[in-house]
Amino acid sequence: MSHVLSTYARFPVTLVRGEGARVWDDAGKSYLDFCTGIAVCSLGHCPPRLVDAIREQAGTLMHVSNLYGIPQQEELARVIVEEQVKLPGKVFFANSGAESNDGLIKTARKFGHARPQPDGSPRFEVLSFTKSFHGRTLGGISATGQDKVKEGFDPLPTGFRHLPFNDLAALEAAIAPETAAILLEPVQGEGGVNVATPEFLRGVAALCKKHDLLLLLDEVQAGFNRCGPAMAWRAIAPEIEPDAISWAKGMGGGFPIGAFWLSDRAIDDAGTCLSSLLGPGSHGTTYGGNPLACAASLAVLAEIADAGIEANVLQQEQHIRETIASWKLPVITEVRGLGLLLGLGLDASQLAVPDGKLPAAFVCGELLKAGLLVPPAGPETVRLLPPLNVSSAEVDEALTVVRSTLESLLTSH
Ligand SMILES: Cc1ncc(COP(=O)(O)O)c(C=O)c1O
Repeated sequence: MSHVLSTYARFPVTLVRGEGARVWDDAGKSYLDFCTGIAVCSLGHCPPRLVDAIREQAGTLMHVSNLYGIPQQEELARVIVEEQVKLPGKVFFANSGAESNDGLIKTARKFGHARPQPDGSPRFEVLSFTKSFHGRTLGGISATGQDKVKEGFDPLPTGFRHLPFNDLAALEAAIAPETAAILLEPVQGEGGVNVATPEFLRGVAALCKKHDLLLLLDEVQAGFNRCGPAMAWRAIAPEIEPDAISWAKGMGGGFPIGAFWLSDRAIDDAGTCLSSLLGPGSHGTTYGGNPLACAASLAVLAEIADAGIEANVLQQEQHIRETIASWKLPVITEVRGLGLLLGLGLDASQLAVPDGKLPAAFVCGELLKAGLLVPPAGPETVRLLPPLNVSSAEVDEALTVVRSTLESLLTSH
């Protein structure tokens, strides 16, 4: 009997070891891992540079309070601002995606106080989108545009509304005097792998300027080269300038770390900028930005830069798309996504799915039996989230399993 809370419907496998794109279960069976802890192990399992960095830092200094200076944190913030975001701003370090998004929401509230409504009352509302996913804290589920994560948790914090994704007219019509910010994933991950169109992203940025709103990007799943370039929005509409961005997952390569960035843009004539709104005492976390987590993330980002990862992501994306297109298999309705955040849309009517099972979860279970780990994304989408340094041979091996498994599940089989 397990003493762990049953918040997860787990697949029937217990994983005990990993190396590169492969993991092993407790019976010694190996699997290709195209789940990567849900877009976390961006360099695969146990990449030597990350393991060495963690070992060395763990033996030097693991944790000190944010009451003191932390050089690894300073250096990681510099790398993120100067080499990744490449826009002036400052970084706060957290431990997870939900926590980083809570930071964005709190920033929107501060901004709404600093730049209130005409009658002086603060703006507070954050507009986000249907099928979005922003994490499991009360702030995260309030911002998330999926009812299933909210059931039984009301009353939720107020000040959130959800609009249809990629619908600029609906968004503009929804902007109200109390609106302070717009929050979106450039590529929605959990909600089915839906990519923001360039017109939508540009339009949202323009609406933010026109209505004095903050543009908040949740790059928790899509960021740090998962979609090709360091920042996912740059794969869609590189010219836009967000006000704030959140990350987690891939930035630690498996070591827990999250962060958010706030731009240095001025918000009044007295020299206040967005990144100075969260001053001493306004926000914090015990663990966030500890030397060990920052050393791990620095190693991941350095390896991504040195190993030509961006080019590999784009090359493997193309390889996956071309291979799947060549099958001409109608049960795969489309390949959505960007880089190595890809979703295979399934036509469930062509699949023999047992009663009561969701098609994507069922297919993922069958793929697991055949030696491939992948997570679902919504009821009819199977996600491919391989390590960003995956090889063409590993991609071929995984796709062979996908093809033969889907073919074996066809109702016409
Ligand atoms: C886009 C997005 N935002 C936020 C989160 C929450 O991150 P975490 O589970 O680290 O709290 C996730 C997790 O899947 C995510 O995909």
